[in-house]
Amino acid sequence: MSLTISTNYIKKFVSDEEISNLVPFAQQALKLVLNKNGAGNDFLGWVNLPKNYDKDEFKRIKIAAEKIKKNSDILVVIGIGGSYLGARAAIEFCKSPIYNNLKKDTPDIYFAGNNISTTALSELLSICEGKDISVNVISKSGTTTEPAIAFRVFKKLLIEKYGEDEAKNHIFVTTDKAKGTLKKFSDEAGYETFVVPDDVGGRYSVLTAVGLLPIAVAGIDIDKMMSGACDAMNKFTSDNINDNEAMKYAIIRNVLLRKGKGTEILVGYEPYMLMFNEWWKQLYGESEGKDKKGIFPASVIFSTDLHSLGQYIQDGQRNLFETVINVKNPGAKFVIPEDSANVDGLNFIAGKELDYVNKTAMIATLMAHNDGGVANILLELEDRSAYSFGYAVYFFEMACAISGYILGVNPFNQPGVEEYKKNMFALLGKPGYEDMRDELKKRM
Ligand code: PA5
Repeated sequence: MSLTISTNYIKKFVSDEEISNLVPFAQQALKLVLNKNGAGNDFLGWVNLPKNYDKDEFKRIKIAAEKIKKNSDILVVIGIGGSYLGARAAIEFCKSPIYNNLKKDTPDIYFAGNNISTTALSELLSICEGKDISVNVISKSGTTTEPAIAFRVFKKLLIEKYGEDEAKNHIFVTTDKAKGTLKKFSDEAGYETFVVPDDVGGRYSVLTAVGLLPIAVAGIDIDKMMSGACDAMNKFTSDNINDNEAMKYAIIRNVLLRKGKGTEILVGYEPYMLMFNEWWKQLYGESEGKDKKGIFPASVIFSTDLHSLGQYIQDGQRNLFETVINVKNPGAKFVIPEDSANVDGLNFIAGKELDYVNKTAMIATLMAHNDGGVANILLELEDRSAYSFGYAVYFFEMACAISGYILGVNPFNQPGVEEYKKNMFALLGKPGYEDMRDELKKRM
């Protein structure tokens, strides 16, 4: 089993009865997901995706990944939100947060178009100088400002560098299959395209071409990733609470929310979890934060952040709980050396594995935070393999859908995201926004 849930560190805060009381609601929520009759039911393509994915496109993804590996030193992945977080999380989780610095036979991978920073774009362009580059632009709508600007820049660069014809071997477009201007434009320009399925929202799209192409370029086994997700699908579609950890996780977080714990901190003990945490924050933040409801998703990496946020978590406002992901097998071994000077007084742990110290820090922290009044849901993940990544992704997606329905929101829309865009377009002078612009100017 790749992921288990321990309730050892919530016992003081959540009773068995409180969990039992929410089981029928969770079962009802699961039914809404599986029977596709809840709010947002046109965005449930992710539910059966691990089995019902487009096998021909999957083959094309592998072929494109091989082509990019052969003809490129650098792959620039252009996308924002759900269009890049999953791929970046997978590459950092399965490979490394310093993937680009590793000795490897796969291209460096940089992410662009996820901000509007002049510095970030200029730095990336200078890194690309003299290198063979491919670009994978990922945008379901094809019109999101941040990736659209970056794509303009890199398309121009590639055409200048390779010429119109050869640039076609370096530009890969992942977008809506019919709607939108990017698909039409790419077909006309002769760029290879991949599909963001109609019924899969951005934050649920990591196991489509959105995530899989960059992940495959990094040399990660996408068959194993899908097989992990498939096993998770078989498990987390059961309505038996004793078999379904996703349902249990969804219930516990809702019980805690009802007790005033409005912030959830996802805790990793490995730096390679950082972007996974970011992916999770989007999944839960965009899915649940609406109608003035929701748990605020925050994240930390311990022990690093025990030296910055540890004080607050231990002793600050008691409106939070933690969900700790313990990756049981860290994938590497390191033994702490003996030091004859022993100035730090640490010779008592010389000869011990570093991971033993990390795991001990985790147990010590779980107990300390419990004593400080913080409930801790403990999730144990087997390892950092592609299989476990796929398994964990499906676990969190299903738990999020169930949790959102228990909460009484539509977990599949994100109407709030549009507000800043409207203001920005008005202030930038987009035609059609003139009245709004005048109003906003008065408020500046
Ligand atoms: O989850 C979502 O839907 C969003 O985060 C989108 O993925 C993000 O806004 C990017 O949109 P698009 O892929 O249309 O450029």
